[in-house]
Amino acid sequence: MSQILTIALSKGRIFKETLPLLKAAGIEPADDPEKSRKLILDTNQENVKLLVIRATDVPTYVQYGAADLGVAGKDVLLEHGGEGLYEPLDLKIARCKLMVAGPENTNFNGEQRLRVATKFVNTARRYFASQGKQVEVIKLYGSMELAPLVGLADCIVDVVDTGGTLKANGLKPLLHIADISSRLIVNKAAMKMKHAQVKQLIDAIGKAVG
Ligand code: ATP
Ligand code: PRP
Repeated sequence: MSQILTIALSKGRIFKETLPLLKAAGIEPADDPEKSRKLILDTNQENVKLLVIRATDVPTYVQYGAADLGVAGKDVLLEHGGEGLYEPLDLKIARCKLMVAGPENTNFNGEQRLRVATKFVNTARRYFASQGKQVEVIKLYGSMELAPLVGLADCIVDVVDTGGTLKANGLKPLLHIADISSRLIVNKAAMKMKHAQVKQLIDAIGKAVG
């Protein structure tokens, strides 16, 4: 008998780009999360449910087994640390780069400790430490591009795709931290306890990714 499988997703970009992969695995949501206020979506498969949560919360739900699987950006996974999770598939969606950005003349080699604004505080600290640089990290929850414009920080760590947001705010991508795409993540206990179902899903989605 098959058990209930729950998959955690975030609205917007990840939901849209994951939809065709789920469809290829035979899973179609009963509701559109952009229209519905429901946080648990039924699907055409009685034993598969989708949880619609904030992108940054996806690894937490999967880590604690509140969701069996999830789709999360590598940026979010690097920041979370990946504890309690397997990351069996690169879905190659929502691709972007995690970068240090700021005014063109940002001096990374000066005497002064730079102030870095970001929502990726652990990743930013780790990155600058790996470069032998002491920085002060300021936690923000969004619109990081504003921080250097108003003197809150010298530079930011954020994801960059087209570079349009940076350009519109007179900033430049300066240092490359990591290439980012979304990953399928699996709770470690679910991988054991629901192995056949989880494996079948990973294989079907893997085939669709190509
Ligand atoms: P939250 O709602 O928790 O603040 P968010 O607003 O970053 O998260 P999304 O904008 O939907 O959520 O981004 C989800 C994921 O998509 C990110 O974690 C990142 O991996 C990727 N991503 C973010 N911005 C872009 C972009 N401009 N182009 C391509 N991929 C992106
Ligand atoms: C993301 C990110 C950058 C922007 C980069 O924001 O936080 O601001 O995309 O993309 P670009 O290089 O193509 O301009 P998003 O559009 O997801 O808005 P949000 O995070 O505020 O929801």
